[in-house]
Amino acid sequence: MKNIIVTGGAGFIGSHLVKALLLDGHRVVVVDDLSTGKSSNLPSHPNCHLFEVDIVDELALAHLFESERPSLVYHEAAIASVQKSIHDPVRTSAVNDQGAKHVFELAVHVGSEQIVFASSAAVYGEDPRLPKRETFEPTPLSPYGFQKWQNEKDAARLAKKSGVRFTALRYFNVYGPQQDPQSEYSGVISIFVDRILNDLPLTIFGDGGQTRDFVNVADVVQANRSVQRVGGGFNVFNVGTAQETSLLELVHHLYMIENQAPNVVFQPRREGDIHRSVADIGQLMSKTDYSSNVHILQGLQALVSAIKLKNNE
Ligand code: NAD
Ligand code: UD1
Repeated sequence: MKNIIVTGGAGFIGSHLVKALLLDGHRVVVVDDLSTGKSSNLPSHPNCHLFEVDIVDELALAHLFESERPSLVYHEAAIASVQKSIHDPVRTSAVNDQGAKHVFELAVHVGSEQIVFASSAAVYGEDPRLPKRETFEPTPLSPYGFQKWQNEKDAARLAKKSGVRFTALRYFNVYGPQQDPQSEYSGVISIFVDRILNDLPLTIFGDGGQTRDFVNVADVVQANRSVQRVGGGFNVFNVGTAQETSLLELVHHLYMIENQAPNVVFQPRREGDIHRSVADIGQLMSKTDYSSNVHILQGLQALVSAIKLKNNE
């Protein structure tokens, strides 16, 4: 049994990860300010402990790390929206940049063996080459993308200085149950499913030709578990499916699942929006037992069914 801290563990991806770590038999301490996460996302389990702490508050965080002394840290806490990083750059930088530095430095200070953290496909930005490979030099388009890249540079420096293992996971576009649809900053699949089930029109920003590698949260959890066995130093891996889907294709799939006629309005493309994105996942597959197991159509069908079931409870 490991003692593990998961920052952002009450959020969408973090809460799925926490549940898997509990099933693996670990003790899990969740650090979350509940800004977008919810305590109700967490199971009631004797090995799961939630501390409502803001990672920007270095003193409070230091106190927690010193009393818990985790051997493994998963850092998921962040303001996850590209658009929010443009609209509120000060707070986003404090959380995504400073907050991550606090987590990394404290983990090293208390003797953690490994820090695994959520980076993003947003670091690739405007580089037109596809699929995106970890060896490409990042060219982010948004403050969010720059902050994730900065996290990677901080991690590489600290890994070299301390010998502690740091693993950056560049998630592509993650979807699945518990992704909150309620904000304009939410992920596109959660917004679209919610609006279709409520008979509301969808808004596509741009012409719908932009593409994403939509990866199910179950695959992302598997990636996080599988990198526990990766060797020393600093490593960076893409986490995706290697399948490219345009927004128009996504909309087509969703209306087909619901057997409805499309109801879509178009608005101008958003600032900081990447045009095409799809992952090369060869590195992760060769260094771990990761494989992408959930096809987009199957994942969307399961998601729609799960949300309908929940709405009928
Ligand atoms: P989310 O908003 O559901 O989860 C983020 C969690 O962090 C929330 O529980 C929130 O309350 C917490 N948090 C935010 N600021 C905090 C602070 N100052 N102190 C403590 N806790 C704080 O988002 P998510 O989609 O689950 O994203 C998880 C991580 O994965 C983030 O780092 C995000 O940048 C990254 N990521 C997400 C995606 C995606 O498609 N969802 C893709 C790439 C990377
Ligand atoms: C998402 C994640 C980000 C992650 C990145 C990795 C969220 C909120 N953002 O950013 O954390 O690092 O993937 O690739 O989870 N769109 C519409 N209509 C809408 C909403 C969105 O057309 O109502 C479009 C957007 O303009 C964009 C695409 O859908 O072109 C995806 O948007 P979004 O889900 O916000 O994700 P990213 O910006 O790719």
